[in-house]
Amino acid sequence: MEKQKKRSWAEPYKIKMVELVHMSSYEERKLALETAGYNTFLLKSRDVYIDLLTDSGTSAMSDRQWAGIMMGDEAYAGSENFYHLEETIQKYYGYKHIVPTHQGRAAEHIISQLMIKKGDVIPGNMYFTTTKLHQELAGGKFVDVIIDEAHDPDNEHPFKGNIDLKKLQKVIDTYGPDKIPYVAVATAVNMAGGQPLSLSNLYAVRELTNKYNIKIIHDMTRVAENAFFIKDRESGYSDKSVADIVREICDLTDGATMSAKKDALVNIGGFLAVNDNELFEKARNMVVVYEGLHTYGGLAGRDMEALAIGITESVDENHIKARVGQVVYLGDKLIEMGIPVVKPIGSHGVFLNAKKFLPHLTQDMFPAQALSSEIYLDSGVRTMERGIVSAGRNNETGKHNYPNLELVRLTIPRRVYTQAHMDVVAESIEQVYQHREQITGLQMIYEPEYLRFFQARFAKL
Ligand code: F0G
Repeated sequence: MEKQKKRSWAEPYKIKMVELVHMSSYEERKLALETAGYNTFLLKSRDVYIDLLTDSGTSAMSDRQWAGIMMGDEAYAGSENFYHLEETIQKYYGYKHIVPTHQGRAAEHIISQLMIKKGDVIPGNMYFTTTKLHQELAGGKFVDVIIDEAHDPDNEHPFKGNIDLKKLQKVIDTYGPDKIPYVAVATAVNMAGGQPLSLSNLYAVRELTNKYNIKIIHDMTRVAENAFFIKDRESGYSDKSVADIVREICDLTDGATMSAKKDALVNIGGFLAVNDNELFEKARNMVVVYEGLHTYGGLAGRDMEALAIGITESVDENHIKARVGQVVYLGDKLIEMGIPVVKPIGSHGVFLNAKKFLPHLTQDMFPAQALSSEIYLDSGVRTMERGIVSAGRNNETGKHNYPNLELVRLTIPRRVYTQAHMDVVAESIEQVYQHREQITGLQMIYEPEYLRFFQARFAKL
Protein backbone atom coordinates (compact mmCIF):
# COMPACT_ATOMS: atom_id res chain seq x y z
CA MET A 1 0.00 0.00 0.00
CA GLU A 2 1.20 3.51 -0.78
CA LYS A 3 2.57 5.30 2.27
CA GLN A 4 0.36 8.18 3.51
CA LYS A 5 2.08 11.44 2.58
CA LYS A 6 1.54 14.75 4.31
CA ARG A 7 -0.20 17.18 2.00
CA SER A 8 -1.81 20.54 2.73
CA TRP A 9 -5.39 21.47 1.94
CA ALA A 10 -4.78 22.69 -1.63
CA GLU A 11 -7.73 23.36 -3.94
CA PRO A 12 -9.13 20.50 -6.08
CA TYR A 13 -9.58 22.82 -9.08
CA LYS A 14 -7.70 25.22 -11.32
CA ILE A 15 -8.72 28.71 -12.37
CA LYS A 16 -10.29 29.20 -15.81
CA MET A 17 -11.56 32.77 -15.61
CA VAL A 18 -10.72 35.73 -13.37
CA GLU A 19 -12.55 38.88 -12.33
CA LEU A 20 -10.40 41.98 -12.04
CA VAL A 21 -10.85 44.02 -8.87
CA HIS A 22 -10.19 47.65 -8.11
CA MET A 23 -7.36 48.37 -5.68
CA SER A 24 -8.46 51.58 -3.98
CA SER A 25 -6.36 54.23 -2.21
CA TYR A 26 -6.67 55.14 1.46
CA GLU A 27 -8.33 58.45 0.51
CA GLU A 28 -10.91 56.66 -1.66
CA ARG A 29 -11.71 54.24 1.14
CA LYS A 30 -12.05 57.00 3.73
CA LEU A 31 -14.62 58.76 1.57
CA ALA A 32 -16.43 55.51 0.72
CA LEU A 33 -16.67 54.58 4.40
CA GLU A 34 -18.06 57.96 5.42
CA THR A 35 -20.59 57.81 2.60
CA ALA A 36 -21.61 54.32 3.77
CA GLY A 37 -22.24 55.54 7.33
CA TYR A 38 -19.56 53.14 8.66
CA ASN A 39 -21.68 50.17 7.65
CA THR A 40 -19.85 47.75 5.36
CA PHE A 41 -23.22 46.61 3.94
CA LEU A 42 -23.61 50.07 2.43
CA LEU A 43 -20.28 50.07 0.61
CA LYS A 44 -20.22 49.66 -3.14
CA SER A 45 -18.60 46.43 -4.22
CA ARG A 46 -16.33 48.35 -6.60
CA ASP A 47 -14.71 50.04 -3.58
CA VAL A 48 -13.82 46.66 -2.04
CA TYR A 49 -10.59 44.74 -2.65
CA ILE A 50 -11.13 41.44 -0.80
CA ASP A 51 -14.79 40.87 0.00
CA LEU A 52 -15.30 38.86 3.19
CA LEU A 53 -18.72 40.34 3.94
CA THR A 54 -20.45 37.02 3.51
CA ASP A 55 -20.15 33.56 2.03
CA SER A 56 -23.73 33.91 0.79
CA GLY A 57 -24.19 33.87 -2.97
CA THR A 58 -20.52 34.73 -3.42
CA SER A 59 -19.17 31.32 -4.43
CA ALA A 60 -17.44 30.70 -7.75
CA MET A 61 -19.46 28.20 -9.76
CA SER A 62 -17.72 25.36 -11.57
CA ASP A 63 -17.58 24.96 -15.35
CA ARG A 64 -20.16 22.20 -14.93
CA GLN A 65 -22.53 24.51 -13.09
CA TRP A 66 -22.11 27.13 -15.81
CA ALA A 67 -22.83 24.44 -18.39
CA GLY A 68 -25.94 23.67 -16.36
CA ILE A 69 -26.98 27.31 -16.71
CA MET A 70 -27.13 26.74 -20.46
CA MET A 71 -29.43 23.78 -19.89
CA GLY A 72 -32.14 25.89 -18.27
CA ASP A 73 -35.65 24.75 -19.13
CA GLU A 74 -37.56 27.98 -18.60
CA ALA A 75 -41.03 26.48 -18.80
CA TYR A 76 -43.42 28.13 -16.37
CA ALA A 77 -44.62 24.76 -15.15
CA GLY A 78 -42.87 21.40 -14.84
CA SER A 79 -39.34 22.52 -15.75
CA GLU A 80 -36.92 19.65 -16.35
CA ASN A 81 -34.48 21.34 -13.97
CA PHE A 82 -36.97 21.18 -11.10
CA TYR A 83 -37.15 17.40 -11.37
CA HIS A 84 -33.36 17.16 -11.47
CA LEU A 85 -33.18 19.35 -8.36
CA GLU A 86 -35.87 17.37 -6.56
CA GLU A 87 -34.10 14.09 -7.35
CA THR A 88 -30.74 15.48 -6.17
CA ILE A 89 -32.19 16.73 -2.87
CA GLN A 90 -33.92 13.41 -2.27
CA LYS A 91 -30.68 11.56 -3.03
CA TYR A 92 -28.25 13.57 -0.91
CA TYR A 93 -30.48 14.96 1.82
CA GLY A 94 -33.22 12.34 1.89
CA TYR A 95 -36.17 14.68 2.40
CA LYS A 96 -39.35 13.50 0.74
CA HIS A 97 -40.86 16.73 -0.60
CA ILE A 98 -39.28 19.94 -1.75
CA VAL A 99 -40.53 23.44 -2.46
CA PRO A 100 -37.98 25.65 -4.22
CA THR A 101 -37.63 29.26 -3.03
CA HIS A 102 -35.50 32.16 -4.19
CA GLN A 103 -33.35 31.95 -1.04
CA GLY A 104 -33.32 30.75 2.56
CA ARG A 105 -35.48 33.38 4.24
CA ALA A 106 -38.35 32.68 1.86
CA ALA A 107 -38.37 29.08 3.08
CA GLU A 108 -38.21 30.36 6.66
CA HIS A 109 -41.20 32.57 5.98
CA ILE A 110 -43.29 29.68 4.67
CA ILE A 111 -42.43 27.18 7.41
CA SER A 112 -42.89 29.80 10.15
CA GLN A 113 -46.31 30.87 8.86
CA LEU A 114 -47.44 27.27 8.49
CA MET A 115 -46.19 25.82 11.77
CA ILE A 116 -46.07 28.65 14.33
CA LYS A 117 -49.15 29.97 16.13
CA LYS A 118 -49.32 33.08 18.27
CA GLY A 119 -47.82 32.37 21.69
CA ASP A 120 -45.66 29.45 20.52
CA VAL A 121 -42.01 29.13 21.47
CA ILE A 122 -39.28 27.81 19.23
CA PRO A 123 -36.16 26.50 20.96
CA GLY A 124 -33.03 26.56 18.83
CA ASN A 125 -29.24 26.32 18.90
CA MET A 126 -28.60 30.07 18.85
CA TYR A 127 -30.62 32.56 16.89
CA PHE A 128 -30.08 33.49 13.29
CA THR A 129 -31.25 36.96 12.28
CA THR A 130 -33.76 36.15 9.52
CA THR A 131 -34.89 32.87 11.07
CA LYS A 132 -35.74 34.50 14.39
CA LEU A 133 -37.50 37.41 12.71
CA HIS A 134 -39.76 35.07 10.71
CA GLN A 135 -40.56 33.13 13.88
CA GLU A 136 -41.53 36.40 15.57
CA LEU A 137 -43.54 37.68 12.61
CA ALA A 138 -45.56 34.46 12.83
CA GLY A 139 -46.31 35.18 16.51
CA GLY A 140 -43.67 32.94 18.06
CA LYS A 141 -40.79 33.52 20.45
CA PHE A 142 -37.29 32.15 19.98
CA VAL A 143 -35.57 30.57 23.01
CA ASP A 144 -31.84 29.87 22.88
CA VAL A 145 -30.95 26.34 24.02
CA ILE A 146 -27.40 26.08 22.71
CA ILE A 147 -24.73 24.91 25.19
CA ASP A 148 -23.14 27.69 27.30
CA GLU A 149 -19.74 27.05 25.73
CA ALA A 150 -21.04 28.52 22.45
CA HIS A 151 -21.30 31.96 24.06
CA ASP A 152 -17.67 31.89 25.18
CA PRO A 153 -15.26 32.79 22.33
CA ASP A 154 -12.27 31.18 24.09
CA ASN A 155 -13.87 27.85 24.92
CA GLU A 156 -12.45 25.18 22.61
CA HIS A 157 -15.32 22.68 22.85
CA PRO A 158 -15.25 20.74 19.53
CA PHE A 159 -19.05 20.92 19.10
CA LYS A 160 -20.10 24.36 20.23
CA GLY A 161 -23.23 24.04 18.08
CA ASN A 162 -24.66 21.37 20.40
CA ILE A 163 -28.02 21.72 22.08
CA ASP A 164 -28.09 21.72 25.87
CA LEU A 165 -30.63 18.96 26.61
CA LYS A 166 -31.34 20.33 30.08
CA LYS A 167 -32.19 23.72 28.62
CA LEU A 168 -34.43 22.07 26.04
CA GLN A 169 -36.16 19.97 28.69
CA LYS A 170 -36.73 23.11 30.74
CA VAL A 171 -38.40 24.87 27.79
CA ILE A 172 -40.66 21.84 27.31
CA ASP A 173 -41.53 21.75 31.03
CA THR A 174 -42.14 25.50 31.22
CA TYR A 175 -44.30 25.98 28.15
CA GLY A 176 -45.56 22.47 27.49
CA PRO A 177 -44.98 20.45 24.30
CA ASP A 178 -48.15 21.83 22.68
CA LYS A 179 -46.61 25.29 22.55
CA ILE A 180 -43.51 24.03 20.73
CA PRO A 181 -44.21 23.49 17.03
CA TYR A 182 -40.62 22.38 16.42
CA VAL A 183 -37.04 22.65 17.60
CA ALA A 184 -34.93 24.71 15.21
CA VAL A 185 -31.65 22.87 14.75
CA ALA A 186 -28.95 24.57 12.71
CA THR A 187 -25.85 22.83 11.42
CA ALA A 188 -22.54 24.81 11.49
CA VAL A 189 -24.11 27.47 13.71
CA ASN A 190 -23.49 30.80 12.00
CA MET A 191 -23.78 33.24 14.90
CA ALA A 192 -21.62 31.07 17.15
CA GLY A 193 -18.79 31.30 14.61
CA GLY A 194 -19.62 28.47 12.23
CA GLN A 195 -19.55 25.89 15.04
CA PRO A 196 -20.77 22.32 14.40
CA LEU A 197 -23.16 20.16 16.32
CA SER A 198 -22.30 16.49 16.87
CA LEU A 199 -24.35 13.59 15.64
CA SER A 200 -24.51 12.11 19.13
CA ASN A 201 -26.11 15.38 20.28
CA LEU A 202 -28.60 15.29 17.43
CA TYR A 203 -29.52 11.68 18.26
CA ALA A 204 -30.20 12.77 21.84
CA VAL A 205 -32.31 15.73 20.68
CA ARG A 206 -34.27 13.38 18.42
CA GLU A 207 -34.91 11.01 21.31
CA LEU A 208 -36.14 13.80 23.56
CA THR A 209 -38.37 15.40 20.92
CA ASN A 210 -39.83 12.01 19.96
CA LYS A 211 -40.90 11.55 23.55
CA TYR A 212 -43.09 14.66 23.26
CA ASN A 213 -43.96 14.34 19.59
CA ILE A 214 -42.12 17.58 18.76
CA LYS A 215 -40.72 18.06 15.25
CA ILE A 216 -37.20 19.10 14.30
CA ILE A 217 -36.70 21.62 11.52
CA HIS A 218 -33.14 21.75 10.28
CA ASP A 219 -31.44 24.90 9.04
CA MET A 220 -29.19 23.02 6.64
CA THR A 221 -27.51 26.06 5.09
CA ARG A 222 -24.00 24.77 5.91
CA VAL A 223 -24.68 21.07 6.54
CA ALA A 224 -21.71 19.75 4.53
CA GLU A 225 -19.32 21.93 6.51
CA ASN A 226 -20.80 20.58 9.73
CA ALA A 227 -20.44 17.03 8.38
CA PHE A 228 -16.76 17.66 7.66
CA PHE A 229 -16.16 18.55 11.32
CA ILE A 230 -18.04 15.43 12.44
CA LYS A 231 -15.80 13.29 10.25
CA ASP A 232 -12.77 15.10 11.64
CA ARG A 233 -13.70 15.24 15.33
CA GLU A 234 -16.45 12.81 16.33
CA SER A 235 -15.47 9.30 17.27
CA GLY A 236 -16.76 6.63 14.92
CA TYR A 237 -17.08 8.87 11.87
CA SER A 238 -13.55 9.15 10.43
CA ASP A 239 -14.19 6.38 7.89
CA LYS A 240 -17.59 7.65 6.77
CA SER A 241 -17.98 9.90 3.77
CA VAL A 242 -19.09 13.50 4.19
CA ALA A 243 -22.04 12.65 1.93
CA ASP A 244 -23.12 9.82 4.25
CA ILE A 245 -22.79 12.03 7.32
CA VAL A 246 -24.88 14.75 5.65
CA ARG A 247 -27.56 12.16 4.97
CA GLU A 248 -27.43 10.83 8.54
CA ILE A 249 -27.97 14.37 9.89
CA CYS A 250 -30.91 15.05 7.59
CA ASP A 251 -32.52 11.68 8.35
CA LEU A 252 -32.77 12.66 12.02
CA THR A 253 -34.91 15.69 11.23
CA ASP A 254 -38.45 16.24 9.91
CA GLY A 255 -37.78 19.02 7.45
CA ALA A 256 -35.34 21.72 6.49
CA THR A 257 -34.88 25.24 5.27
CA MET A 258 -31.94 25.80 2.98
CA SER A 259 -30.15 28.90 1.82
CA ALA A 260 -28.43 27.24 -1.13
CA LYS A 261 -26.27 30.36 -1.54
CA LYS A 262 -23.73 28.91 0.90
CA ASP A 263 -22.86 25.19 0.98
CA ALA A 264 -24.56 24.45 -2.31
CA LEU A 265 -22.34 26.77 -4.35
CA VAL A 266 -24.87 28.91 -6.18
CA ASN A 267 -25.35 32.66 -6.38
CA ILE A 268 -29.08 32.44 -5.72
CA GLY A 269 -31.47 29.75 -4.54
CA GLY A 270 -32.97 27.88 -1.64
CA PHE A 271 -35.71 25.48 -0.71
CA LEU A 272 -38.00 24.15 1.95
CA ALA A 273 -37.97 20.39 2.39
CA VAL A 274 -40.45 18.40 4.48
CA ASN A 275 -41.38 14.78 5.00
CA ASP A 276 -44.98 15.35 6.08
CA ASN A 277 -47.46 15.08 3.19
CA GLU A 278 -50.03 17.50 4.56
CA LEU A 279 -47.47 20.14 5.45
CA PHE A 280 -46.04 19.80 1.96
CA GLU A 281 -49.43 20.40 0.35
CA LYS A 282 -49.82 23.58 2.39
CA ALA A 283 -46.28 24.80 1.65
CA ARG A 284 -46.66 24.14 -2.03
CA ASN A 285 -49.85 26.15 -2.03
CA MET A 286 -48.28 29.02 -0.12
CA VAL A 287 -45.22 29.27 -2.36
CA VAL A 288 -47.40 30.27 -5.32
CA VAL A 289 -48.58 33.29 -3.33
CA TYR A 290 -45.16 34.61 -2.34
CA GLU A 291 -42.55 33.13 -4.68
CA GLY A 292 -43.87 31.50 -7.84
CA LEU A 293 -45.25 28.20 -9.07
CA HIS A 294 -44.20 25.17 -7.01
CA THR A 295 -41.87 23.93 -9.74
CA TYR A 296 -39.73 27.08 -9.73
CA GLY A 297 -40.45 29.03 -6.52
CA GLY A 298 -38.81 32.28 -7.56
CA LEU A 299 -35.91 30.68 -9.41
CA ALA A 300 -35.16 30.43 -13.11
CA GLY A 301 -34.86 26.90 -14.49
CA ARG A 302 -31.14 27.51 -15.04
CA ASP A 303 -30.70 28.43 -11.34
CA MET A 304 -32.24 25.12 -10.29
CA GLU A 305 -29.89 23.26 -12.61
CA ALA A 306 -26.80 25.05 -11.22
CA LEU A 307 -28.09 24.22 -7.73
CA ALA A 308 -28.58 20.52 -8.45
CA ILE A 309 -25.00 20.32 -9.69
CA GLY A 310 -23.74 22.48 -6.79
CA ILE A 311 -25.28 20.13 -4.22
CA THR A 312 -23.39 17.20 -5.74
CA GLU A 313 -20.11 19.16 -5.69
CA SER A 314 -20.67 20.41 -2.14
CA VAL A 315 -20.39 16.96 -0.56
CA ASP A 316 -17.24 16.01 -2.45
CA GLU A 317 -14.50 15.11 0.06
CA ASN A 318 -11.73 17.07 -1.66
CA HIS A 319 -13.92 20.14 -2.06
CA ILE A 320 -14.97 20.32 1.56
CA LYS A 321 -11.48 19.60 2.88
CA ALA A 322 -10.05 22.50 0.89
CA ARG A 323 -12.96 24.79 1.74
CA VAL A 324 -12.61 24.39 5.48
CA GLY A 325 -8.82 24.10 5.10
CA GLN A 326 -8.60 27.62 3.72
CA VAL A 327 -10.67 29.06 6.57
CA VAL A 328 -8.53 27.27 9.15
CA TYR A 329 -5.38 28.48 7.37
CA LEU A 330 -6.43 32.10 7.90
CA GLY A 331 -7.58 31.41 11.45
CA ASP A 332 -4.32 29.73 12.46
CA LYS A 333 -2.34 32.60 11.00
CA LEU A 334 -4.30 35.13 13.07
CA ILE A 335 -3.92 33.02 16.22
CA GLU A 336 -0.15 32.92 15.62
CA MET A 337 -0.16 36.72 15.41
CA GLY A 338 -1.86 36.88 18.80
CA ILE A 339 -5.14 38.26 17.42
CA PRO A 340 -8.18 37.35 19.58
CA VAL A 341 -10.49 35.11 17.54
CA VAL A 342 -13.33 32.69 18.28
CA LYS A 343 -11.98 29.19 18.88
CA PRO A 344 -12.05 26.62 17.48
CA ILE A 345 -11.94 28.15 13.99
CA GLY A 346 -15.34 27.59 12.36
CA SER A 347 -16.29 26.40 8.92
CA HIS A 348 -17.25 29.47 6.91
CA GLY A 349 -15.14 32.20 8.40
CA VAL A 350 -12.86 33.48 11.09
CA PHE A 351 -14.54 35.59 13.77
CA LEU A 352 -12.56 38.31 15.56
CA ASN A 353 -13.39 38.86 19.21
CA ALA A 354 -14.00 42.62 19.19
CA LYS A 355 -14.45 42.84 22.97
CA LYS A 356 -10.87 41.63 23.43
CA PHE A 357 -9.54 43.46 20.38
CA LEU A 358 -10.94 46.81 21.57
CA PRO A 359 -11.29 46.47 25.35
CA HIS A 360 -11.46 50.27 25.74
CA LEU A 361 -14.85 50.40 23.96
CA THR A 362 -18.06 49.49 25.79
CA GLN A 363 -20.54 47.35 23.83
CA ASP A 364 -22.89 50.28 23.22
CA MET A 365 -20.02 51.97 21.34
CA PHE A 366 -20.41 49.18 18.74
CA PRO A 367 -16.86 47.77 18.91
CA ALA A 368 -17.33 45.15 16.18
CA GLN A 369 -18.91 47.70 13.84
CA ALA A 370 -15.99 50.09 14.52
CA LEU A 371 -13.44 47.32 13.96
CA SER A 372 -14.92 46.24 10.64
CA SER A 373 -14.76 49.89 9.49
CA GLU A 374 -11.13 50.14 10.54
CA ILE A 375 -10.14 46.97 8.67
CA TYR A 376 -11.81 48.26 5.52
CA LEU A 377 -10.01 51.58 5.85
CA ASP A 378 -6.66 49.85 6.24
CA SER A 379 -6.81 47.52 3.26
CA GLY A 380 -10.14 47.50 1.43
CA VAL A 381 -10.98 44.15 3.07
CA ARG A 382 -14.72 44.09 3.73
CA THR A 383 -15.92 42.18 6.80
CA MET A 384 -19.14 42.39 8.81
CA GLU A 385 -20.40 42.98 12.31
CA ARG A 386 -21.90 40.08 14.28
CA GLY A 387 -22.58 41.58 17.68
CA ILE A 388 -24.89 44.09 19.29
CA VAL A 389 -26.05 45.61 16.00
CA SER A 390 -26.96 42.21 14.54
CA ALA A 391 -28.68 41.20 17.79
CA GLY A 392 -31.24 44.03 17.48
CA ARG A 393 -33.58 45.09 20.27
CA ASN A 394 -35.60 43.20 22.84
CA ASN A 395 -39.20 43.13 21.61
CA GLU A 396 -40.64 43.72 25.07
CA THR A 397 -38.29 46.33 26.57
CA GLY A 398 -37.16 48.04 23.34
CA LYS A 399 -33.58 48.04 24.67
CA HIS A 400 -30.56 46.70 22.76
CA ASN A 401 -29.92 42.99 23.17
CA TYR A 402 -26.37 42.64 24.55
CA PRO A 403 -25.01 39.36 23.15
CA ASN A 404 -21.96 37.91 24.79
CA LEU A 405 -20.38 37.49 21.38
CA GLU A 406 -19.28 40.80 19.87
CA LEU A 407 -17.63 39.64 16.68
CA VAL A 408 -16.30 40.72 13.32
CA ARG A 409 -16.83 38.01 10.75
CA LEU A 410 -14.24 37.39 8.05
CA THR A 411 -16.43 35.21 5.87
CA ILE A 412 -14.64 33.27 3.17
CA PRO A 413 -16.49 32.84 -0.14
CA ARG A 414 -16.07 29.35 -1.61
CA ARG A 415 -13.51 28.81 -4.39
CA VAL A 416 -12.93 32.57 -4.84
CA TYR A 417 -9.78 33.77 -3.07
CA THR A 418 -6.22 32.46 -2.95
CA GLN A 419 -3.83 31.80 -0.11
CA ALA A 420 -2.05 35.08 -0.92
CA HIS A 421 -5.35 36.91 -0.41
CA MET A 422 -5.63 35.26 3.01
CA ASP A 423 -2.09 36.45 3.80
CA VAL A 424 -3.00 40.05 2.91
CA VAL A 425 -6.09 39.83 5.13
CA ALA A 426 -3.99 38.62 8.06
CA GLU A 427 -1.35 41.33 7.48
CA SER A 428 -4.02 44.02 7.46
CA ILE A 429 -5.61 42.78 10.68
CA GLU A 430 -2.22 42.64 12.35
CA GLN A 431 -1.61 46.25 11.31
CA VAL A 432 -4.98 47.34 12.71
CA TYR A 433 -4.24 45.42 15.92
CA GLN A 434 -1.00 47.35 16.38
CA HIS A 435 -2.82 50.68 16.58
CA ARG A 436 -5.97 49.35 18.27
CA GLU A 437 -5.82 51.86 21.18
CA GLN A 438 -6.48 54.69 18.74
CA ILE A 439 -9.71 53.18 17.39
CA THR A 440 -12.76 55.11 18.54
CA GLY A 441 -16.35 53.94 18.97
CA LEU A 442 -19.46 54.73 16.94
CA GLN A 443 -22.97 55.99 17.52
CA MET A 444 -25.98 54.81 15.55
CA ILE A 445 -27.59 57.71 13.69
CA TYR A 446 -30.14 55.75 11.65
CA GLU A 447 -31.82 52.52 12.69
CA PRO A 448 -34.26 50.62 10.44
CA GLU A 449 -37.05 48.60 12.04
CA TYR A 450 -36.13 45.11 10.84
CA LEU A 451 -32.69 43.44 10.59
CA ARG A 452 -31.05 46.76 11.40
CA PHE A 453 -27.48 45.63 10.71
CA PHE A 454 -28.10 45.65 6.96
CA GLN A 455 -29.01 49.32 6.66
CA ALA A 456 -28.12 51.15 9.90
CA ARG A 457 -25.85 54.19 9.66
CA PHE A 458 -23.23 55.30 12.15
CA ALA A 459 -21.02 58.28 12.94
CA LYS A 460 -17.74 58.44 14.85
CA LEU A 461 -18.10 59.31 18.51
N1 F0G B 1 -29.87 30.54 7.86
C1 F0G B 1 -28.55 30.74 8.02
C2 F0G B 1 -27.78 29.90 8.98
C3 F0G B 1 -27.92 31.74 7.27
O1 F0G B 1 -26.60 31.93 7.42
C4 F0G B 1 -28.68 32.52 6.37
C5 F0G B 1 -28.07 33.60 5.62
C6 F0G B 1 -30.05 32.27 6.26
C7 F0G B 1 -30.61 31.26 7.02
C8 F0G B 1 -30.94 33.07 5.36
O2 F0G B 1 -30.73 32.73 4.05
O3 F0G B 1 -29.78 34.80 3.03
O4 F0G B 1 -30.58 32.90 1.63
O5 F0G B 1 -32.19 34.32 2.83
N2 F0G B 1 -26.95 34.08 5.93
C9 F0G B 1 -26.22 35.11 5.21
C10 F0G B 1 -24.97 35.42 5.97
C11 F0G B 1 -27.02 36.31 4.85
O6 F0G B 1 -24.27 36.37 5.54
O7 F0G B 1 -24.66 34.77 6.94
P1 F0G B 1 -30.84 33.75 2.82
